[in-house]
Amino acid sequence: MVLLPQTDQLRALHTVVRDRNASPREFTFYSRRIIRLLLETGMDLLPFEEREVTTPVGQTYRGLGFARNLCGVSVVRAGEAMEGELRDMVPGIGIGKILIQRDKQTKLPDVLFQSLPVDIADGQVLLLEPMLATGGSTLAAVEVLGKAGVTEENIVLVNFLASPQGLERLGREAPGLRIVTSAVEEGLNEQAFMVPGIGDFGDRFFGTAPRAVAS
Ligand code: PRP
Repeated sequence: MVLLPQTDQLRALHTVVRDRNASPREFTFYSRRIIRLLLETGMDLLPFEEREVTTPVGQTYRGLGFARNLCGVSVVRAGEAMEGELRDMVPGIGIGKILIQRDKQTKLPDVLFQSLPVDIADGQVLLLEPMLATGGSTLAAVEVLGKAGVTEENIVLVNFLASPQGLERLGREAPGLRIVTSAVEEGLNEQAFMVPGIGDFGDRFFGTAPRAVAS
């Protein structure tokens, strides 16, 4: 697991987005800044291929090119919050979607829909799932990808908040998966929400959350 350096700047960004009184505009703007850091770090974990170019002074620069067949796969709905930044970083990148919803009572994930790039089996996948609570949704997504021919070693999970329980479960049940996150939480409450947490990421990012009552 790669945890972003816990710099004062990152803590300041987290302080804005974790505040229940953050406006939808503040939440979206500042969470996207963190998402950009996560994606940049996730990209560092991907394989690169040798590539040479000729510079304007006619010399050869022996460099690296991005891996072919890189795609993103978002776990709908919260994962869609990460798509915009990824598309800004890698123009034209393919984005697959897996719709997974946790049952409100049991908290067990249900895979309702999937649409993946056709050549995904040969590629590297950035799996976009901001929230890792019990780990059920991420494991369900990894299973969908596995059935499509993607091995765990070719998946980098781009995650915003992780619980220790979720990380431990992924380590046990998907040991090949690499994970980038910006915070490891204290734990889960009885509703399987992370604490101190951020609330429902999808609701807050897409502006469908009930307004917080100021105390
Ligand atoms: C939330 C969250 C994750 C999942 C994490 O999704 O967005 O997808 O729960 O929990 P887990 O690790 O215990 O599976 P939810 O089903 O509430 O839908 P949403 O994305 O629309 O918020």
